[in-house]
Amino acid sequence: MTASRSLARLRREAAGCTRCPLYVDASRTVFGEGPADARLFFVGEQPGDQEDLAGRPFVGPAGRLLRELLVEAGIDAESVYVTNAVKHFKWRARGPRRIHDKPNWTEIRACGHWLGLELATVAPSLVVCLGATAAQALLGRDARVGTLRGRRLELPDGTPALVTLHPSAVLRAGDGREERRRELLADFRRARKALRVRARTARTPGP
Ligand code: URA
Repeated sequence: MTASRSLARLRREAAGCTRCPLYVDASRTVFGEGPADARLFFVGEQPGDQEDLAGRPFVGPAGRLLRELLVEAGIDAESVYVTNAVKHFKWRARGPRRIHDKPNWTEIRACGHWLGLELATVAPSLVVCLGATAAQALLGRDARVGTLRGRRLELPDGTPALVTLHPSAVLRAGDGREERRRELLADFRRARKALRVRARTARTPGP
């Protein structure tokens, strides 16, 4: 089966996911999007209110910033695969509003089933973990952005990975917003460079 047909099948299966209780209060599963042969694979935390309503990842403010920075870093936003560690919106009510609630380890683990299958299907050259939840989902419960950011990492299956800030952390940074934005942009540029280096290495004939 081709990778894009496998992804389409996974998306259909994930639509009925009941692996953890989050499906009860969310509108729908928000599966990843992008080309099945993408070389760059971005992982966020979980869909927000707008993503839950639209059924698509990163369509709200964090997604707009993500795409803006991809363009600034010279990465074609249409060429990347974008998904989340957790695929149902976890929220609590505050008056009429649905407020984001952080997924716990049990929920991250349960949804790791889908993330692992997406990753194995797309088989990217580089994974970019946006924030701690994505890093924990792929590198283990103790993963922290502060200690892992800027390091060349490998996932347990050998796929190269980078850990960086979540775009929402930039949006929430108040006075530090410009600095956080520069940090995230620098990491996206690093990701692009790492891809170029890997492409060159792949073309170099062996001894
Ligand atoms: N934040 C995320 O981590 N993912 C989304 O899809 C939207 C906001």
